[in-house]
Amino acid sequence: MSLIFEATEENIAKAAARMKNGGLVALPTETVYGLGADATNDHAVASIFAAKGRPSFNPVIVHFRSKEEAAEAVVFNHHAELLAALFWPGPLTMILPRRENTDISKLCSAGLPTLAVRCPSHPVARQLIKALQSPVAAPSANASGSLSPTTPQHVLLSLGGNAGMILAGGKAAVGLESTVVDLTGDVPVLLRPGAVTLEDLQQHLGEVLVEFSVTSEKPKSPGQLLKHYAPKTPLRLKAVDVKPGEALLAFGSAKFMGVVGGGAAKDLPQEAYQNLSENGDLEEAAAHLFAMLHYLDAGAFESIAVMNIPDTGLGVAINDRLRRAAGAQKHPE
Ligand code: TXA
Ligand code: MG
Repeated sequence: MSLIFEATEENIAKAAARMKNGGLVALPTETVYGLGADATNDHAVASIFAAKGRPSFNPVIVHFRSKEEAAEAVVFNHHAELLAALFWPGPLTMILPRRENTDISKLCSAGLPTLAVRCPSHPVARQLIKALQSPVAAPSANASGSLSPTTPQHVLLSLGGNAGMILAGGKAAVGLESTVVDLTGDVPVLLRPGAVTLEDLQQHLGEVLVEFSVTSEKPKSPGQLLKHYAPKTPLRLKAVDVKPGEALLAFGSAKFMGVVGGGAAKDLPQEAYQNLSENGDLEEAAAHLFAMLHYLDAGAFESIAVMNIPDTGLGVAINDRLRRAAGAQKHPE
């Protein structure tokens, strides 16, 4: 029996009932698919960690329908009010101090005095939170350390039966995990770049510190460990040619790219050649990134050559995920 269910009203109600009883449901969001549980149920949240093989020190984002509901769990400050008004619902997660009397499971904070809160825009995610009448704790719906899922099939491949029930809501439109910003100090800190870019944050908040370098040994955001977002096949970044036995992940025109030993990259078979965006559009590239990595990773290539991607706007987030994916093989756990 398939675990994938169309997100009809009836199936959303079924999913909510499952979560009320402490079960897990994989749900679509505009960024990536999440593995959701009732955020107020300790056992349910604990089972997220078990299903993903996630280390218990890695806290989980809690999803709400509105800023007002999130404000019952965390203390908003001026920066948070501003960002919520501008970017919620949408692909932005804010780290804020937990309220002492909140009924959100402490496991979501993994021992920290803070909580990551987000208000997703995907209608199915919103309907599910409404039907559950409780916030939803949800990390990305993949086995810990592997690529985030942008389709229901990715969830099934990565988690199998551990996902419980998968609500299908199409391809994730953004395709990269949400921007994570720590607002607990005087100066905001960008912990994970995403569709809300560093430039967006600077424009509205002024000074913003950046702390998502892959070389950081003790990341402030526990999930920003190097091994995250890893395909099985090694990546070769900023490639200007394709080596024999390699696949190509292109960006923009690959017309003039050669294959070492003879031939043109554009003549490679489709199994070995994917283009993030023929027109060099960063939004399109972000939406395709994980699906194309999943696809090429399933082939038996020695490595995946990835063309250079400009390090501005959404390109910062794309390059962050690519560097993590490439770094992962050099630094096995
Ligand atoms: O787009 C997304 O954010 C998706 C969808 C499902 O919402 N979720 C997601 O969750 O990517 P996850 O768990 O894969 O990544 C959340 C990141 C991790 O790096 C985690 O360490 C960090 O946010 N995080 C969560 N709570 C935190 C906290 N209280 N303090 C610092 N970092 C936190
Ligand atoms: Mg994740």
